Amino acid sequence: MLDLLIHNARLPDGRAHMGVAVQGGRITALEAGLSPATAPAAQVVDAGDQLLSAPFVDAHFHMDATLSYGLPRVNQSGTLLEGIALWGELKPQLTQEALVERALAYCDWAVAKGLLAIRSHVDVCDPRLLAVDALLEVKRRVAPYIDLQLVAFPQDGVLRSHGALDLLKESLKRGVDVVGGIPHFERTMADGAASVKLLCELAAEQGKRVDMHCDESDDPLSRHVETLAYETQRLGLHGRVTGSHLTSMHSMDNYYVSKLLALMAEARLNVVANPLINITLQGRHDSYPKRRGLTRVPEQLAAGLTVAFGHDCVMDPWYSLGSGDMLEVASMGLHVAQMTSQAAMRQCFEAVTTAPAQILGLDHFGLAVGREASFVLLQARDPIEALRLRAHRLGVWRRGVQLAASAPVQTTLTLPGRPASTDFRR
Ligand code: FE2
Repeated sequence: MLDLLIHNARLPDGRAHMGVAVQGGRITALEAGLSPATAPAAQVVDAGDQLLSAPFVDAHFHMDATLSYGLPRVNQSGTLLEGIALWGELKPQLTQEALVERALAYCDWAVAKGLLAIRSHVDVCDPRLLAVDALLEVKRRVAPYIDLQLVAFPQDGVLRSHGALDLLKESLKRGVDVVGGIPHFERTMADGAASVKLLCELAAEQGKRVDMHCDESDDPLSRHVETLAYETQRLGLHGRVTGSHLTSMHSMDNYYVSKLLALMAEARLNVVANPLINITLQGRHDSYPKRRGLTRVPEQLAAGLTVAFGHDCVMDPWYSLGSGDMLEVASMGLHVAQMTSQAAMRQCFEAVTTAPAQILGLDHFGLAVGREASFVLLQARDPIEALRLRAHRLGVWRRGVQLAASAPVQTTLTLPGRPASTDFRR
């Protein structure tokens, strides 16, 4: 007998009446027409012709800052730079206990929304490495239900901030997974480029992946992504390096971008755009017209790059809203990047499921036989409807074990002159 059978499901690729058989935490069969009669199981779930997807994955988050909104004050200008200054004011007041508590609370939100893997940057520019130790503790505690990957992020600049390189190396020693950076925040363009070279070399030496905040700026001459692509191919790190944000690409000269995209493709550089945050932080120095500031997602996809949408922030010094809902993130990306064709909308869904799983190297994720039996059942028929409705999560499973369940959302209308009706697709 199977551990779990989910039948009568639709899959993101359009297949309907599908059954997913689970044994020992893995998908053992994925076939049309599987039913309790043909595949008896200890737990049987009728998906009700709704969409069963691989879990959501967030490729870019800051779990050390999350849920700290208003501490010690609110960001008045709404800019990235005031956010960084505000975080600097908050840092001395942080305690490990409060960091752990807020991160665990956010992970509860995430699971409820079907978000089961998160890559979080953690600020290493603190001689106490308080946030590093706190998030390593959180990583251990959430391991049964969330894959938490940590990036050693020198928020104040690995060269600009005294002692940051040693702190970054120490955090890797303590168990942080990925090398981060912030070249556009270094003192000069030359220092920015030097920081990219230094950090990529460190990652190559230690066999680590790289994920840098890169060119999070409206300055069209912020071109650190060029160095990132160059170092990636020089060091043979193809496919293991991610440029996060890349907002300056929005403002760059088109001719230059036509060369840059080819260099990025050659290096198989991954891209993470953060639509909710970039649409609120970028263009703050413009009057009108105001630039959107999102990186060039459709063009990057057309060049063959793997592109994910990240949440980046939830209720912190940079962003006052958010709820861990990756469908909200994807919906904003869809709108800002004008990805409105059927194919592009599906790419937006992939940008919060399969693409970030690939960027994080989560080979066990995905709806296929032999993969981990982790999925989310959405109250929608297909990925486009899921985006349109920011679909309700009916159930969430990790390795065949149900972690969250909720009743379908529906509204009953009793309108004068109309028959009573119940539906949710409005
Ligand atoms: Fe970020």
